Amino acid sequence: MNLESSILDSISTGILVLSGDLTVTALNASGQALLDTSEARCLGVHAEKLLQHSHEWLGSLTQVLESDSPHASRSVALTLHSGQEIHVDVIITPFPHADGSTGLLVELMAVDRLLRISRDGSQQYAQETSRAVIRGLAHEIKNPLGGVRGAAQLLARELADEDLAEYTRIIIREADRLRDLVDRLLGPNRQLALQPLNIHEVLEHVRSLISAEADNRVTIIRDYDPSLPEFPCDRAQLIQAVLNIMRNAVQAATDPEQCQIILRSRSQRQFTVGTQLHRLVCRVDIIDNGPGIPADLQPAVFAPMVTGRADGTGLGLSIAQSIIHLHGGSLECESYPGETRFTFYLPMETPHA
Ligand SMILES: Nc1ncnc2c1ncn2[C@@H]1O[C@H](COP(=O)(O)OP(=O)(O)OP(=O)(O)O)[C@@H](O)[C@H]1O
Ligand SMILES: [Mg+2]
Repeated sequence: MNLESSILDSISTGILVLSGDLTVTALNASGQALLDTSEARCLGVHAEKLLQHSHEWLGSLTQVLESDSPHASRSVALTLHSGQEIHVDVIITPFPHADGSTGLLVELMAVDRLLRISRDGSQQYAQETSRAVIRGLAHEIKNPLGGVRGAAQLLARELADEDLAEYTRIIIREADRLRDLVDRLLGPNRQLALQPLNIHEVLEHVRSLISAEADNRVTIIRDYDPSLPEFPCDRAQLIQAVLNIMRNAVQAATDPEQCQIILRSRSQRQFTVGTQLHRLVCRVDIIDNGPGIPADLQPAVFAPMVTGRADGTGLGLSIAQSIIHLHGGSLECESYPGETRFTFYLPMETPHA
């Protein structure tokens, strides 16, 4: 790879270079990710063929060529070949192309992605604060709870009356229940046991656990990118995170026979997680076809103790998000009736402490 293309590939903005007849002569890594294509597929192709419904897009390109002056537009909707619509800020600048014609330099910046980055950052801060308060409280409960349980055990040994022993059994059982809750409130172990791992091993493990829990009645569709390399992660904790997300999908389904979950893995280049740009990240989507997360819960669905289920503790997603954050990644959610999608991104290129 020469210096110019390696510089181009390091830029988080999508850069598209067109020659005077509007054929693609370069598209950097961010541009390929944004337009969901590869260099091999788009080089030499007419700009019109990069998108569906490309009439307006073509109009803007031709207008810049004809007027020979740059043009910027905000939040333009582009339809990819997959049918997905993306919103981008576009700057089109005419420039002398290497082939002698007047070419175009097109800069593409994803708008929703930027919005999501800033929202994710502020939400993360708010949730980390409430988690810290809850963790503090959990610690305070844990010690006296141990004392209560120990005293009930001693008392049980002293009691000859079987009827009275029943009371101590209740104290011990309820103390154990509270201890389990407190352990979950304390959240995941913050010390990660990192080992090189293929994410599909985690996904496959959870898939078999969920299938067994649901008596094989749910349909789980796998759509894996087999080229994903191994990267350092904490196997047990990632299993916990994925399990919490998938279990919710099964629990939300009104009829398990109709419940379908898609597990999808992809690699993504030049991707920002939080505020850090990563060269390579692993993206996993967990998509179910259930009723969706109730609208009133959605803004706070990752916050601890937010639940829509009568017997829920509201900790599953909070724990899943903490685990993903500990790995330097991010967890997002999008939900409407018929489709709920949890997406997590994990940086692959550097070991994260
Ligand atoms: N895939 C989903 N489909 C529909 N609703 C969901 C889905 N995932 C989460 N939810 C909603 O979000 C709420 C919060 O989920 P979370 O896993 O954090 O807690 P919980 O499942 O209620 O309790 P816990 O996981 O601690 O047992 C759920 O109660 C449910 O209402
Ligand atoms: Mg849950």
